[in-house]
Amino acid sequence: MSVIRVGVVGAGSVAQRGILPHLSQPDLANRLALTAICDPAPGRAHAAAEKFSIPQQFTDYADFLIHADVDLISLATPIGMHYAQGKAAILAGKHVHFNKTMTTTSAQATELIDLAAARGVKIVASPGEMNRPHNQAIKQLIADGAIGELCWAVCGASFGRYHETEIYRQGNDPLSNVDPSWYYRKPGGGPMYDMTVYALHGLTGILGPAKRVTAMSGVRIPMREFRGQMVACDADDNTLVLIDFGNNVFALAYGTPAGAVSEDDSGSFFGTKGQIVGLNLNGTPIDYAGSTIADSHPEGRWSGNQWILPYVTGTHRDIAEQHVFVDIMQLIDWVNGGPPPIASAQHARHVIEIIEAGFAAATTGQTQTLTTTF
Ligand SMILES: NC(=O)c1ccc[n+]([C@@H]2O[C@H](COP(=O)([O-])OP(=O)(O)OC[C@H]3O[C@@H](n4cnc5c(N)ncnc54)[C@H](O)[C@@H]3O)[C@@H](O)[C@H]2O)c1
Repeated sequence: MSVIRVGVVGAGSVAQRGILPHLSQPDLANRLALTAICDPAPGRAHAAAEKFSIPQQFTDYADFLIHADVDLISLATPIGMHYAQGKAAILAGKHVHFNKTMTTTSAQATELIDLAAARGVKIVASPGEMNRPHNQAIKQLIADGAIGELCWAVCGASFGRYHETEIYRQGNDPLSNVDPSWYYRKPGGGPMYDMTVYALHGLTGILGPAKRVTAMSGVRIPMREFRGQMVACDADDNTLVLIDFGNNVFALAYGTPAGAVSEDDSGSFFGTKGQIVGLNLNGTPIDYAGSTIADSHPEGRWSGNQWILPYVTGTHRDIAEQHVFVDIMQLIDWVNGGPPPIASAQHARHVIEIIEAGFAAATTGQTQTLTTTF
């Protein structure tokens, strides 16, 4: 195994809370070296480089691509930048990890998948929801008929005020004054691309690729307040998507400003003989690989589910965003000759198409037939 040189682009919330602390742990020194950080916000790359002992720092992405000593890039930038930054990275011969939604359209995703194949580099898009043992167990239970004939499912997430209140956005120094406004603006803003993406990876990982989509969608909260300033929001924040999985099995996926049907982003599944709601089968907690360990987490089973992911041992148990760390490590191992990760770019593209088709259906009033699979 060779040591893979990793550069992180974007030193905002997820990078500071999860990616940089995980990747700078000494137990990974035989697998990777965190060599470069890039962020244009004044002083942020410099401060992050000092805090996490990163040798190279850049404020300009083009400069970073030319001069950074990296084999692999984790893009931790706003979602609307992922396509252009990912394309430039692939053209520069870098392997790429995308922090959640890889692109905002499936055509862009196809372009990146084809380009990566042509250039001989590997790409992975978080979230690898099917790495989670509970999702694998739910898939198996449904396949085994535990809830009879599956009829319908529901999943989704809501923004609440999560991004406005993240701790790295409340201070006055370069590492703690990160502006969340992009989360509410096109392209790439809104809960569907940022949060419902988890639910859709789980839903389609469990049920397989979907066939058709229809939706209603719009902006419910046109102005948000952040640290005393009003932020204009033009990205749809209130979206209800109906998904057809074939054989008259349907699902509802929501990305909304408020409210949740199930705990976490998990789906609920309803069949002729029973139901799986969150982590319970007919009201009884599901047993799955590692569920006892998950239960021992001080915050309970949902948080403990990240403890039982691969790679999450030792100090990594105390660092946030373990699932992101797993997706990066699976890419590193894939680059080193290991198996392709569960968080495939093809799966990510299918989820992107569901979101994109939902917006198209809401705009046109026409049900959209999906073209991608995984
Ligand atoms: N915040 C979370 O809880 C969280 C969790 C998991 C994944 N993610 C995903 O991670 C990504 C980043 O989210 P975040 O919350 O850290 O965003 P953020 O707004 O906190 O940080 C984004 C950073 O990107 C920087 N940036 C902007 N333009 C850039 C450019 N051209 N080159 C390099 N850097 C640039 C910004 O200065 C900022 O520091 C998103 O895709 C998000 O969906 C976020």
